[in-house]
Amino acid sequence: MTQKPIQFTVIDNDYSELIETQQGSYPNLMFLLRDKLGLEGFGECGGVGRCATCIITAEGITGNSIIKDRNEPATLSKMGYEDESTRLSCQLYITSDLDGATITILDL
Ligand code: FES
Repeated sequence: MTQKPIQFTVIDNDYSELIETQQGSYPNLMFLLRDKLGLEGFGECGGVGRCATCIITAEGITGNSIIKDRNEPATLSKMGYEDESTRLSCQLYITSDLDGATITILDL
């Protein structure tokens, strides 16, 4: 059975790209973004949820991905990010929850 592709838009400054991928294609969204966009210094802690160099805004995500858990809420709050859409991309898995979302890379 073929999987339904997952599509979402990524915005990095004035660059925008529609990404199409499959569930679980990368360990998490940080690795996908770093690979597809060649982002330097993105995801420095390797996905532990502590460095916040993988910070994004995620509009339009659904399902369990809306919930911030593990280290994510503490790290974001320590940096002063209380907004619901501000996320650590390393804490988001590549699932259909991302389908139709708009992901914007934030510059620290
Ligand atoms: S890679 Fe460090 S917090 Fe996401």
